[in-house]
Amino acid sequence: MNLFDSSYFTYKSDELFCENVSVKKIIQEVGTPAYIYSKNFFIDRYKEFTEAFEEIPHTIFFAAKSNFNINVIKTFVDLGSGVDVNSEGELKRALLAGADPRKLILTGVGKTLNEIRLGLQKDLLMIKAESEEELELINTIAGEMKKVARVAIRVNPDVDAQTHPYISTGLSENKFGIDTKSALGLFKDKNRFKNILFTGIDMHIGSQITSIQPFTEAVEKLSQIYFELKDSGVHLKHFDVGGGIGVKYGYEETFSIQDYAKAISPILKKLDCHIFFEPGRFLTANGGILVAQILYTKKNGEKNFIIADAAMNDIIRPSIYGAHHHIQPVEVHSDRAEIISDIVGPVCETGDFLGRKRKIQESKRGEYIAVMSAGAYGMVMASNYNARRKPPEVLVANDKFYVIRSRETYDHLLFDEKIINS
Ligand code: LLP
Repeated sequence: MNLFDSSYFTYKSDELFCENVSVKKIIQEVGTPAYIYSKNFFIDRYKEFTEAFEEIPHTIFFAAKSNFNINVIKTFVDLGSGVDVNSEGELKRALLAGADPRKLILTGVGKTLNEIRLGLQKDLLMIKAESEEELELINTIAGEMKKVARVAIRVNPDVDAQTHPYISTGLSENKFGIDTKSALGLFKDKNRFKNILFTGIDMHIGSQITSIQPFTEAVEKLSQIYFELKDSGVHLKHFDVGGGIGVKYGYEETFSIQDYAKAISPILKKLDCHIFFEPGRFLTANGGILVAQILYTKKNGEKNFIIADAAMNDIIRPSIYGAHHHIQPVEVHSDRAEIISDIVGPVCETGDFLGRKRKIQESKRGEYIAVMSAGAYGMVMASNYNARRKPPEVLVANDKFYVIRSRETYDHLLFDEKIINS
């Protein structure tokens, strides 16, 4: 059994700790399943990122979609981060977390009229437009509000991010952004968008990208557009590289943030503008775990099953992307034999698994396991499927822990339903 260990989630006398707090101790208070986050992981990754780009004038906009708990957003905001928000809900969360509206970017391929209006009302740093129709709408709304909208166009650079097709966004066949040629035309069309000030150019080619090459290719392409625009008198203030940096979930090869900076900085340095980054997963994924209790163990024929109390409604990445998350015991018993087992949840679907064919110590009913690397796209994608309550979230900072969201109650689940007599 290989244990995924870091200085943030580590074993002390065979027991899993988050920073200096025993995971078991937290679970005794909040129960299972539960998300546990390491605040120092978040802080250290933010610092690592910003230090890697220290030679370049830049701002990090934490992609709140990866983990939108207001305390997590606040952790980054307190460090000076901006926030990339993808909906009215995320915008409200960022404001609640104390973010300065002038450090917020409104993203999204399908913003509603209300979202655009809210973005303008709150005077956000910029809105990213992803279609000609959206530009027209922003222009109209800004006109009605007697405002000038600061807008960036998200360009689809038609670059293969070589990641899971569901999270690849930079190919022309994907729904995101505006193709290069049309984007150039729109940027240059001075008379058309009177209530818009084009302040930036943007890309985001996908997520969990594990090689640098697609980034360099896309940044290079985008920088050519930037210079072409500059030559024709459109001077942009911001150049937004997006997010997408891959992290280690298992044994995959990835690159370091320093290597990433080394590869793209020479291109970025040539631009005469401020660089934006929108990392989500890099800042959060390996800063969180999902802890579950083993409800049952069983053998169907030759096949072992560990049935946990966490399911696809708590963490959906294994089910929809076939994503690998290490799963390991909260208490290691090195004297026990190891078995190969599927680790599954209680939801009524065969696709409800946390891990398949995993090597793990022989386990007993009542013991705890941890699903690692669950800090990004974990809780934010949780659902109430099977009328299950969403789990609590706990933030650990050094030797203290804080319940930053408690477990949903059944009253929460029934809040807006009532029996009608039809
Ligand atoms: N900026 C934009 C415009 C985005 O759409 C995203 C993620 C990010 C930044 C942050 O990307 P990151 O640095 O986290 O890769 N649910 C999927 C991931 C979806 C990513 C959506 N967009 C998963 O669990 O793998």
